Formats: sequence, structure tokens, C-alpha cells
Amino acid sequence: MTPTPVQSSAPGKVILFGEHAVVHGRPAIAVPVTQVRATVTAKPAPPGSGLTLIASDLGKRIALSTVPQDEPLAAAARFTLIHLSMPEPDVTLNIHSTIPIASGLGSGTAVSTAIVRALASFLDHKLGPAEVSPLVFEVEKIHHGTPSGIDNTVVAYERPVYFARGRGSEPLTVGEPFTLVIGDTGIRSSTRVAVERVRRAWERNRARYDALFNRIGDLVDEGRDAIEAGDVDALGPLMDHNHELLIELGVSSPQLDALVNAARSSGAMGAKLSGGGLGGNMIALGHASPHAGRAQMDDAEQVAQALTEAGAARVIRTTVTATG
Ligand code: PMV
Repeated sequence: MTPTPVQSSAPGKVILFGEHAVVHGRPAIAVPVTQVRATVTAKPAPPGSGLTLIASDLGKRIALSTVPQDEPLAAAARFTLIHLSMPEPDVTLNIHSTIPIASGLGSGTAVSTAIVRALASFLDHKLGPAEVSPLVFEVEKIHHGTPSGIDNTVVAYERPVYFARGRGSEPLTVGEPFTLVIGDTGIRSSTRVAVERVRRAWERNRARYDALFNRIGDLVDEGRDAIEAGDVDALGPLMDHNHELLIELGVSSPQLDALVNAARSSGAMGAKLSGGGLGGNMIALGHASPHAGRAQMDDAEQVAQALTEAGAARVIRTTVTATG
């Protein structure tokens, strides 16, 4: 056990293609958003004080031994101790995050990941992503009920991933970097509610929804080919198409559609909602490769400005590269 404080962090994420369909067994693609992060500092605490989690941003102070099993922050710590076969140490875990919560940017996932890493390294164990990801997946089940596993995978590996439930993830080669502009509607939304809504609709009309999931799965595969080939031009129309299919699934909202339309009108190559939907964030492809060979925007600034003017509560720009 280290006598000095240790710090660990984890990035946000966006889903580029395939949200919701991925819960129903189709593939999806997600990329890390390193501009926003959750950070956890583990400090030794007085003997006998046990493990305390402090999330001052949320006004939360949690003693591990006194909270219910399904408290998500405590669960991340508890699963880590079980995995390492270690007793509860005397430690304080301070949690900070710059990732907007309940908006599809993976805030809960990043916090859980940073807790697992900080606690493990406080206990002198370095856990790799292949160990961290399944631990965080257990916490995701508390948050979301039936998560696909894509969020914990992309956040733990901190690189673009192609993911299919039950088949695991494959790292993506990014042939040509591209820039995403992320616009926040400012409306918090619950992934659990959105996933449940889609599940109920699917139960009522399996043929229709399975067909929509299949169409989304096909365009995820086209997206993967385009990303690997460095064909940024092909990505925009695929994002547009994915957004239309998400509207058909019933998870868009007037605010998301307004930001998507504003991005497209300002010259974005494509745009879609990202994550659970019904609020939260959308993404736009705002910057084309200078090698792509046709007249395109050369700056995501214009898209970012249009999103702000259309009412986005926050705009983040991120460049997707092979290493995240
Ligand atoms: O956590 P969010 O809002 O980014 O949504 C994750 C994507 C879903 O496909 C809607 C759910 C899941 O578990 O994959």
C-alpha cells in the first residue's frame, strides 16, 4: 500500500455509430474524448477510518461500509477490492470530473474507471484495460440495467473501438484523422430510460425494429471501412443516415434535431445524436482531411459557432486519431 497520494484519470467518449442497436447485438463504434476527463486521487486515511469516496462536485461523501451494495461509486471500489482479494483499506478517494453528466459523454463510466485505477494503484496493483473494463462493466449494470459494454471498453482502452456485444472489441485503425464537434443540448437524459423505450418498442414490433437495427449495423460496418481507409468523405453521409435511423427508433428530440440541422447548415459533413439520446449530445463531422480532394470546410470553428448560436449549452472539439 502506497503511503503517498496517487492519481488516475479516464476520458469521456462519444459513440460515432451504432448506439441502441449495439444493445441488441449489432456492432458500434466509439471514440474517446480526451478533452474532458474524470480524475480520482487516492490518499492514505487514518487507521481504522476505512474507505471514503468524496465527490465534492456532486456534494457526495460516501463511506464504503455504510452504503447499499448498488451505490455506483462505492460499487466501483468494492468490485476492485473483490478482484484484488484485498480487505478495505484506509483511504480517501477524491473524485473530480470535467465531463458533463447524463449527456452521453460517458461521465459515469469515466468516474468508475478512474476509481478502479486509483484504488488499484494505491494498493500497488497496476491494472491494464483488459482487467479494468470488465470491473467497470459490472458498475455499468447498476447505472444502466442492460449496458452493451461499449462505454467501459472505449474508456478503459482510451482508443477508438469497433465493438460487438458478445464478440468483444477490436481496435480501429484510423487511416486519416478527423475532427468531431460535440454539441450539448444541455438537457440531461437517462440512458436507462432511452434503452428501455427502445426495448419496449422492439417488443411490440420486432420485425420493424430488428430491420432498423440491421440497417444501423450495416452502416457501422461501412463506417469502419471508411475510417480504416482514411475515407473521411464517406463518414458524413453515414452519420446523417444513422441520425435518421435513430429518429425512427424514437430517441431523438427537437433540441437534438435543431443542433444537427444547425451543424449541417453551417457546412458540417454530417451530424447525428450520440449516445442514449432524448437529450444529451450530438456530434458533427466538422473538419475534412486536406488530402480528401474536394472542397470542404477546413475549420471546425464555423460548426462550433453555429452550434453555439443554435443554443448548444457547451461545444467540445476533438480530433480522432488512431491512439485516441
Ligand atoms: O451512455 P450513453 O448515453 O452514451 O449511451 C450508450 C449507448 C447505448 O447504446 C444507448 C447504450 C449501451 O449500453 O450501449
